[in-house]
Amino acid sequence: MQFFLDTANLELIKKYVPWGVVDGVTTNPSLIAKEGVSHEDRIKEIAKVVNGPISAEVIATDYQGMVDEGRRLAKWHKNVYVKLPTTEAGIKALNTLKKDGIRVNMTLVFSTSQALLLAKSKADLISPFVGRLDDISEDGMSLISEIMDVWNQYDFDTKVLVASIRHPRHVIDAAKMGAHVATMPPEVLEKMIKHPLTDSGLAKFLEDHKKSQSK
Ligand code: E4P
Repeated sequence: MQFFLDTANLELIKKYVPWGVVDGVTTNPSLIAKEGVSHEDRIKEIAKVVNGPISAEVIATDYQGMVDEGRRLAKWHKNVYVKLPTTEAGIKALNTLKKDGIRVNMTLVFSTSQALLLAKSKADLISPFVGRLDDISEDGMSLISEIMDVWNQYDFDTKVLVASIRHPRHVIDAAKMGAHVATMPPEVLEKMIKHPLTDSGLAKFLEDHKKSQSK
């Protein structure tokens, strides 16, 4: 299973890369806007720090605009995956960009029917958003479960990237279902290493060691 960081914050990416678990990065227009930096500069900076897929999303919503913008983003770095929204124009643009040899991450996936179409259209990655489904009282992980059931019947090259992750339980459930990638905010990665019994256990070990030294 691959782990991606879902952030455009360079300092946070630099903080977690030394853990040795960051396989790639996903960004979106909201995450880039939060940083107040140029899209191109930030993607290039991230690519210097992480040697893996870096998703950069288009702003265009029409077919030709997405193709033109996608071709431009793909030139920024060899590891750029162009992120396109899952719309009629998006699936057409996916088809065209794939013919150019450009790698594509299809975003804003909310149904298994969308996922199936995108696998047939040979997307490299699809991003079903689990947290946003949970937010509207749906069950985000049920979507991943159904998508993985379909994937298990075939030999698709398309990887399922679980997105809009809100907590470690989403990551664990995605792993149990065999999802290929989980992209998570840095705070979720941080929560994955923490356990209060680890902290209290370590404190006790150190306290006992100190006592034995003062005898
Ligand atoms: C995925 O690539 C998106 O950037 C992201 O996971 C969206 O998550 P959100 O619902 O927390 O904004």
